[in-house]
Amino acid sequence: MSFTESYPAQYESNLTLRDGSVVFLRPIKATDGDLVIDLVEMLSSNSKYLRFLRSLDSLSENLLYQLTHVNYRSEFALVATINEGGNEKIIAVARYAYSSEDNNTELAVTVRDDWQHRGLGKSLLERIVEIGKEHGISQYVAIIAPQNKIIINTLIKLGYNVNCSLKSGIFHVEIAV
Ligand SMILES: CC(C)(COP(=O)(O)OP(=O)(O)OC[C@H]1O[C@@H](n2cnc3c(N)ncnc32)[C@H](O)[C@@H]1OP(=O)(O)O)[C@@H](O)C(=O)NCCC(=O)NCCS
Repeated sequence: MSFTESYPAQYESNLTLRDGSVVFLRPIKATDGDLVIDLVEMLSSNSKYLRFLRSLDSLSENLLYQLTHVNYRSEFALVATINEGGNEKIIAVARYAYSSEDNNTELAVTVRDDWQHRGLGKSLLERIVEIGKEHGISQYVAIIAPQNKIIINTLIKLGYNVNCSLKSGIFHVEIAV
């Protein structure tokens, strides 16, 4: 993967949530490792399981690298940040990434538990899908725990065409946007 890609600052924006709080949206940066580690450490075990589909105490170096190094075309991650105690914190991430092995683009979103239910997950999904469209992506897959009705309902409410199939106890969800 090449990191000669320049940071696409045009995707930076403020987002006002329905409770009036304002968060800053920006593309992820290769230097965001510590902020991503903090985010994952602050997730409840349930949210971690729903995102990674396994219990996860910490991110491996390899996974952290993948999450923070994107080419901003076939792989993209948009983070929501706030200032907490004078420090920048990542409170949510939506990402997509093309896998040549599976020949598909996986979509995923995570919101820190204390920021859930304010419309952030839905808005981030909508934004990352808009960014994907600019890069010619209209089909995604998501690997989702069967109990995760919230994400399936959110994708449907966003107007996407969602097709779920159960494989080895996990939903493989095809999403046409
Ligand atoms: C799924 C997730 C990203 C949703 O984030 P969020 O910011 O709480 O979602 P939103 O506030 O935008 O809500 C999205 C929709 O889900 C519904 N919803 C949210 N939480 C809900 C809950 N606990 N029960 C029922 N519905 C819920 C809301 O009604 C909302 O729809 P609306 O805007 O039309 O009212 C978040 O719960 C999360 O990070 N979960 C753990 C990781 C995960 O499951 N990722 C998805 C698989 S990759």
